[in-house]
Amino acid sequence: MTPNPHRIDLPDVQLSPGVPFGVYVHVPFCVTRCGYCDFNTYTPAELGGVNPDAWLLKLRSELELAGARLGSPTVHTVFVGGGTPSLLGGERIAAVLQSVRDNFELATGAEITTEANPESAWPDFFAAARAAGYTRVSLGMQSVSPQVLGVLDRIHTPNRSAAAAREALAEGFEHVSLDLIYGTPGESDDDVLRSVDAAVDTGVDHVSAYALVVEDGTALARRVRSGEVAAPDDDVLAHRYELADDLLSAAGFDWYEVSNWSRAGGQCRHNIGYWNGGQWWGAGPGAHSYVGATRSWNVKHPNTYGQILDDATLPVAGFEQLTAQQRHTEDVMLRIRLRQGLSLGLLDHTERERAAIAVADGLLTPDGERLVLTDRGRLLADGVVRMLLG
Ligand SMILES: C[S@@+](CC[C@H](N)C(=O)[O-])C[C@H]1O[C@@H](n2cnc3c(N)ncnc32)[C@H](O)[C@@H]1O
Ligand code: SF4
Repeated sequence: MTPNPHRIDLPDVQLSPGVPFGVYVHVPFCVTRCGYCDFNTYTPAELGGVNPDAWLLKLRSELELAGARLGSPTVHTVFVGGGTPSLLGGERIAAVLQSVRDNFELATGAEITTEANPESAWPDFFAAARAAGYTRVSLGMQSVSPQVLGVLDRIHTPNRSAAAAREALAEGFEHVSLDLIYGTPGESDDDVLRSVDAAVDTGVDHVSAYALVVEDGTALARRVRSGEVAAPDDDVLAHRYELADDLLSAAGFDWYEVSNWSRAGGQCRHNIGYWNGGQWWGAGPGAHSYVGATRSWNVKHPNTYGQILDDATLPVAGFEQLTAQQRHTEDVMLRIRLRQGLSLGLLDHTERERAAIAVADGLLTPDGERLVLTDRGRLLADGVVRMLLG
């Protein structure tokens, strides 16, 4: 047999003992591509014949290979993201979780999230996901403004996101999250206020609010370059963040990461793992893994992904062993974004001196032996990281 030209052998990877372990599953399907999105996702015309059933078969093979490779470890969190997991429908979303169960040990009380899009997630989907054992749903709301949704190329109606969140709660999900985007060209302060209000009103226990990023290569980037729409302005973004933060705080949500707020008990443990030194296996096209000190990433196209798995080989496109210095940089970059802050013990002498300047500048505040971003520091989190790392 001719060796597959895409084949890369992943070296032996060892889980670090005592560090939480999660599984991420990437669902690479979308009905249409939103103009701002550069995630690894494909519309039907771009799939080269791959369909959800074919993807599911290959996913099973990858999880089987990964489970065997890692010795079927205990999984504390599962996150099915995309793309659009709700396009799989109830039966397949259940089969995805079954496949994780078949190859790993699910911890008691594991957090199991699926993302969902408002236009393809209905009560029957939520009921099937809940019955299968999912504990959390994360819905892409983005905005309630028809004009903003239009600029973002979102295909759901303004009211559908809140309705979907209520349906998920009614089907028994205790943990439901809504994603918002602020800073879209043409958006007003009032659009942000109404969107946050609508999210809070549903009774969800988690909200994410992301500043719109104009990603290279997207339709939005082309529209910005041609002058058709204006790039988000930094001062406007900072003001909109403050509006969202004020409203969320008043409604009983606490920030626990710069872009994430929750009511009591609603934090996303899976994402905390990404920020707080956790490890995970990422299954599916283009998914990234981080196990021990090895980061690896899968081939991106679902077609190539499937072909490699046909040879009973992990569909890895590349890997790197992080050096101690790289791990340190990541630790500082990610942990500083958390409300629990960064332990001073992680910083060397020079970094502590820089941290003292950030404290004097009102960007960081000490909290016991930890450093936490102030309100102003949250607006300038990337700058604070650059300041600390020099
Ligand atoms: C990639 S989507 C996947 C889930 C789902 N398909 C959806 O659209 O919500 C996850 C979240 O990433 C955020 N996102 C994607 N691209 C973004 C961008 N360019 N700027 C800011 N947020 C973005 C959106 O809030 C979105 O809800
Ligand atoms: S639906 Fe979500 S994943 Fe798909 S293109 Fe839009 S933002 Fe990206």
